[in-house]
Amino acid sequence: MPLFNVYPLYDVTPVSGKGVYVYDEKGTEYLDLYGGHAVISIGHAHTDYVDAVASQVAKLGFYSNAVQNPLQVELADKLETLSGCKDYELFLCNSGAEANENALKLASFKTGKSRVVAFKNGFHGRTSAAVAATDNANIIAPINAQQKVTILELNDIEGVKAELEKGDVCAVIVEFIQGVGGLDEGSAQFFESVDALCKANNTMFIADEVQSGYGRSGKFFAFQHYNVTPDVISIAKGMGNGFPIGGILIHPNIEAKFGMLGTTFGGNHLACAAGLSVLNVIEKNNLMDNVNTMSNYFLKLAKTIPQIKKIKGRGLMLGLEFDFEVGELRKKLIYNHHIFTGGAANKKLLRILPPLTLRKDHINMFFEALIEALSEVEQPVNAS
Ligand SMILES: Cc1ncc(COP(=O)(O)O)c(C=O)c1O
Repeated sequence: MPLFNVYPLYDVTPVSGKGVYVYDEKGTEYLDLYGGHAVISIGHAHTDYVDAVASQVAKLGFYSNAVQNPLQVELADKLETLSGCKDYELFLCNSGAEANENALKLASFKTGKSRVVAFKNGFHGRTSAAVAATDNANIIAPINAQQKVTILELNDIEGVKAELEKGDVCAVIVEFIQGVGGLDEGSAQFFESVDALCKANNTMFIADEVQSGYGRSGKFFAFQHYNVTPDVISIAKGMGNGFPIGGILIHPNIEAKFGMLGTTFGGNHLACAAGLSVLNVIEKNNLMDNVNTMSNYFLKLAKTIPQIKKIKGRGLMLGLEFDFEVGELRKKLIYNHHIFTGGAANKKLLRILPPLTLRKDHINMFFEALIEALSEVEQPVNAS
């Protein structure tokens, strides 16, 4: 049976990984500055993680949410400690889209309203309401288009005010650093005004931290760079270092009711063991400090490359903007220099989303390769 052909693939077959590297079937080593799309947080095959997952699957991989699961409680407690999100409650699911779906559903339950405000170039997943709140008409099917969503420009405070004052908006959902869209950020004044407008209009403020969370921005959550208090925080990607797990942190102003949310696989024993191990490694190895140190070093070197016109993002969620489309450059980096990087909706942007265990020698290696790769691609003269 052929695979349903939805992914344009690079001709590389990773079969193993270690730290910031992956290896193909011939043993070729690739520097992974893409982290499997911001998923690999503590590095490939981290020994603590391998031990935690292996010992849990040998004991009990899964049981349903109808019984006590102390691993969920342990994960919630550790997450509260490391994130500093005191008094929030945790609901566990399996992916980023599912996290946002549940966040939007809770907002609608809580407020009794159903319209969503989202932002230009935002990405929130591919399911029902999450994809409807995503600014990409190509991936919104007619069944999704039934949702009531208003897309506004980032930083359009007046627009948000006007929409919320109409009284039918259940949620404003935002990425504090846009991922797929291309690393754009709203201003502090914008985010703080949206927070206040949500509170004044009985609208839930949802922070989509699926990509920017878990230390990637240099703080545990990207919204913590601002003075805001989201009602719901959605998480996934780096949370399981590759094991599928997602979740939402829910402010105490939203009260749980039996049956309000639910899932078969969410919060299973194996997922919790993976998630706990990630948090333990982030803490034990001071990975958030490492993110800030490596980010500063990366930015220092990036500023020395004249072809880089703009540097976007924070921490180890970075974008290098050129004045030409970077598709060929990414290919040269993969095939000639064995380095994975990411692309974005903004075709001139090279995305850097490495494991948070990145070191200076990896960064040096990248910039040496980038200089060579830039000389290998044809850059249009007077590109804009
Ligand atoms: C900000 C953001 N939200 C949601 C999602 C969807 O996550 P998933 O692919 O796990 O459903 C993504 C995925 O790239 C994302 O970047």
